[in-house]
Amino acid sequence: MAALGYAGVRKDYGDVTALRDLELEVGEGELLALVGPSGSGKSTALRLAAGLEDVSAGSISIGGRDVTRLPPAKRNVSMVFESYALFPHLSAAENIGFGLRARGLPRRELSGRVLEAATLTGCERLLERKPHQLSGGERQRVALARALARRPDVFLLDEPLSNLDAQLRVDTRAELKRLHQRLGATMVYVTHDQVEALTLGDRVAVLHEGTLQQLDAPDAVYRRPVNRFVARFIGSPSMNLLATEAEGELLHAGPFDIPRPRGLRARRLEAGIRPEHVELAGDGAGTPARVEVVERAGSETLVYLVADGVELVARASPDVRLTVGATMHVGVAARNVYLFDAETGETLASLE
Ligand SMILES: Nc1ncnc2c1ncn2[C@@H]1O[C@H](COP(=O)(O)OP(=O)(O)OP(=O)(O)O)[C@@H](O)[C@H]1O
Ligand SMILES: [Mg+2]
Repeated sequence: MAALGYAGVRKDYGDVTALRDLELEVGEGELLALVGPSGSGKSTALRLAAGLEDVSAGSISIGGRDVTRLPPAKRNVSMVFESYALFPHLSAAENIGFGLRARGLPRRELSGRVLEAATLTGCERLLERKPHQLSGGERQRVALARALARRPDVFLLDEPLSNLDAQLRVDTRAELKRLHQRLGATMVYVTHDQVEALTLGDRVAVLHEGTLQQLDAPDAVYRRPVNRFVARFIGSPSMNLLATEAEGELLHAGPFDIPRPRGLRARRLEAGIRPEHVELAGDGAGTPARVEVVERAGSETLVYLVADGVELVARASPDVRLTVGATMHVGVAARNVYLFDAETGETLASLE
């Protein structure tokens, strides 16, 4: 039984279709990361599950029960927004315990649950403060604590960490993952950050312009993207994308020559190569490429090159000595090349 299910869900705002034919089942105890660029329909999907908006078509179920027509209060879901929605006149503790007080929980149990949720999110020292006395990141953690304290069937988290600084964000993310494992709670976590989606999600759902592109394990989304959009969206820097030209048994893709797979003869193809798969050598094999920009970022170095008039980005070890203007040689192993149908964007061949 799915904890949360979307069946043929569509949402129109006037003539804008925010979500199209969404089929998605989130398993009991699963943490699903919902990722996509701005405007792809992520918040819409959450708001429909929470009952804050009505579907235009299709149905939504929670714990096997059709909730499509139920008001938010009857769905037992907890939503955390990017914009916290805390009550300004209540302290952090009162905010965290708000849903519980409304349910008539005894005082002792209420304060226990508030303290537990506050400790889990690291805001136990902020309990007496009002929202205006908290930073953006602190408010976000109070909002998260409020959702945790309610112990709903499903957590709907809409970019709940977006206001935290980089370090706190990574820490809170790890904490959330541990929390999820411990509580066995069902969570849908919305983010536009693909790294966050891959590290956090048991599975990752990729949305683009209101349409679900792929629903898979993080590793599968990365290694076996179903189309050019997913291939380019997941991974940073984005996969290099090259037009190809067929000649006999070979495909020319910028500076690379790749064996031409049988069966794809009639199609116009694009080749995709991840930055980590661009092989760099000082001399010898490969096509000469001019180093344009070198970005050193601690554990890795990104190298921007131009070869045969084509721009490429390569990920190199920080030990590699590179100077702007130098000539390197680039190559790629055929097994590391993705091929896309240039018209439809569909992945036709990939490394597995
Ligand atoms: N109330 C509304 N009225 C009209 N259009 C809306 C409304 N809410 C959302 N939309 C449109 O629906 C589409 C999806 O919006 P949504 O908020 O779900 O995107 P998102 O993926 O959450 O983006 P972001 O990452 O920017 O938060 C967008 O094109 C948006 O402009
Ligand atoms: Mg949004």
